[in-house]
Amino acid sequence: MKKFLAILLAAIMVLGLCSFASAEVKTYKVGVAIYQYTDNFMTLYRNEIEAYFKTLETDDVKYEVMPADGKNDMAEQIILNLVQTSSADAVIDEIVAAGIPLVLINREPLGDNGDESYEGILNNPQVCYVGADARQSGTFQGEMVCELDNHGDINGDGKISYVMIEGDPENVDAQYRTEFSIKALKDAGYEVECLDDQVGNWDQTKGQELCANALNIYGDKVEVVFCNNDAMALGAATAIVAAGRTVGEDIYLLGVDALEDAVEKVKIGEMTGTVLNDHIGQSHAAVDVAVKLLNGEEIQNYYWIDYVKVNKAYVDAM
Ligand code: BGC
Repeated sequence: MKKFLAILLAAIMVLGLCSFASAEVKTYKVGVAIYQYTDNFMTLYRNEIEAYFKTLETDDVKYEVMPADGKNDMAEQIILNLVQTSSADAVIDEIVAAGIPLVLINREPLGDNGDESYEGILNNPQVCYVGADARQSGTFQGEMVCELDNHGDINGDGKISYVMIEGDPENVDAQYRTEFSIKALKDAGYEVECLDDQVGNWDQTKGQELCANALNIYGDKVEVVFCNNDAMALGAATAIVAAGRTVGEDIYLLGVDALEDAVEKVKIGEMTGTVLNDHIGQSHAAVDVAVKLLNGEEIQNYYWIDYVKVNKAYVDAM
């Protein structure tokens, strides 16, 4: 049960909404539960949610953002709902039954058939998912390799030999990026060879460790390192330098998110590319739909924000 809860807590990020009014000013309390505060990308995302709510305030309408740190009421309430559930459906049902509209962000719950038809979202007019289609980010990573002069086949042996460093395997973003980056290479007609595929759980230190290890074992055979996010790619970049390898010359390195440090590395050639995971577009869409829910307006079940390919040409044109 404990393990299940931990997985569920990590899997669901919730904006829980309620409101109170005083004199003329109406203040909406917005619970924002993020799975892990140390996550680089989700920190940008959370800060932007707060900043954007601020810009929407008027003399009459205020938003009190309550980050879920386990200490405030709303967070306790959300955690309590999770304690009592045995499936994501039940989580949603309980929160909805408590009269709290939900905006699920960043981690998409999939339906039974493994696609975007999650019944708990489709059947609840007050629940929606705001996110980016992780298949697109994987495809973009693969395409950036295909677009290289040697399309990633540095040693000319007819195949692209790669190392994959994955995020949290429970997370569909990790699953899709792993699958679709390689699918893009194969769809373009290239042969691929997976030298190593390890789980780095989105973490920079882990990314560095895993990449160092792979380079140690497979050495010059490693032509491309795919990381499911930039935090792990930044770690891998450190390992690549430490191993005496040079991105763009004897190895390629790809991430996702377009964190500032990663974009800088693409600019100076220490990373081959990353993919913009638009935390501004996503957080604004999440807040906009939250406000719609607060105002009792109708919403869609799903809101999608596009990823953007960020390679050297893109950064130079920025
Ligand atoms: C981001 C990762 C982040 C994860 C958290 C992904 O979309 O690319 O950097 O760790 O979301 O769930």
